[in-house]
Amino acid sequence: MDAESFFSNNIKAALKNSPPGEWMPNIPENCIRLNSGYPAPELVPDQELKAAVALLLDEERDLPLHYLGSPRIDKLKEQIQDRLAERGMRVSKEELLITSGACQAIDLVARILLDEEAVVAMEAPTYMEALEIFKNYTDHYISIPVDEQGLQTDLLEKELAERKQNGLALPRFLYTIPTFQNPTGTTLTADRRKHLLELASSYNFLIIEDDAYGELAFNESPETLKSMDKEGRVLHIGSLSKVVAPGMRIGWVAAARDFITAQWWFKKDLDHPFAHSTMATFLENIDFEERLEMLRRTYREKCAAMLSALQAIMPTSVTWFVPEGGYFAWVRIPGVDTAEMLAEAMAEGVAYIPGKHFFLDQAEGKEYLRLSFSYAEEKEIVEGIRKLAKIVGNLAK
Ligand SMILES: Cc1ncc(COP(=O)(O)O)c(C=O)c1O
Repeated sequence: MDAESFFSNNIKAALKNSPPGEWMPNIPENCIRLNSGYPAPELVPDQELKAAVALLLDEERDLPLHYLGSPRIDKLKEQIQDRLAERGMRVSKEELLITSGACQAIDLVARILLDEEAVVAMEAPTYMEALEIFKNYTDHYISIPVDEQGLQTDLLEKELAERKQNGLALPRFLYTIPTFQNPTGTTLTADRRKHLLELASSYNFLIIEDDAYGELAFNESPETLKSMDKEGRVLHIGSLSKVVAPGMRIGWVAAARDFITAQWWFKKDLDHPFAHSTMATFLENIDFEERLEMLRRTYREKCAAMLSALQAIMPTSVTWFVPEGGYFAWVRIPGVDTAEMLAEAMAEGVAYIPGKHFFLDQAEGKEYLRLSFSYAEEKEIVEGIRKLAKIVGNLAK
């Protein structure tokens, strides 16, 4: 039987793309993982989550295990509303949808907003899984470069003006990670945030603000686009993956009510009531601000260890952006194909993600690589940079 003959045209087109996760290197054991955008293992609150499960089941018995789940599910929504309000985003229950991680939020946004003709604007480079998701819906993109201050909004404006003048379709939305971006670690400046919102208004497109790292500032988190938005154009996506545990799969979209209703139509009860009530119980019993403070301090120290190792050990031709939060440093090694270098790096015992995977046009990312300082221990980070520097030094000879 030919299974594919039964597929919809949309699915047939999507299956022509590379399989999801193809970028993920197959990491040998004992390799220092500067590739992993995961929280540090010791910062995942496994014992606290275990205690939350015990407390939940002791108090509510079978209730959290049913379709409708525990009353604490509503509480999770309130806890997330409170976190959003802390950052200047006051949203009602009807303006918030809890999703299976930020990834499902990205998919639901794409699902309600994109058809084959739709144009998506995004940053170059950008989060590769978002790229994979959008490619399931459309083949039309505008890629705008990121510099040390985030998305170059002047280049976006130029592109929009040209498209308008030439009668080309304008983007339905711009997908951006304005704060501690994946992969570059950069943060969009206040002026550019303002400019971006003005462009969205004058060229009539939506903004998908992916804020997965927004609370992980080394000093202070900037104002979100959503909190600056006066027209309801920003769909704000968040996640507890980077600040609690990715395996809990808890994310959300905060947006104007009609967008949330449309997404809910497709999400229905494809939920994880037990994970939601467990998370609500966990949040009830911890001081989240204290936890955030500890995470910020730890990642700030790990980042500093990585940057000073880069400064001390790498040849002077190698450059990087200095992150103000998040998980990542973005490094450029002029004249080196980082995808080719990876096999040698892994043989030496260090892994990273080659820059090309974060670009629609992969040739653009050839000389870049993404290093994550979140997962490995500080001394491993320094050792990993030493190993990379040795390879880069040898390549330069
Ligand atoms: C920018 C960005 N958005 C979303 C996600 C996915 O988050 P979640 O685990 O909540 O699906 C990640 C994870 O790496 C990310 O870097």
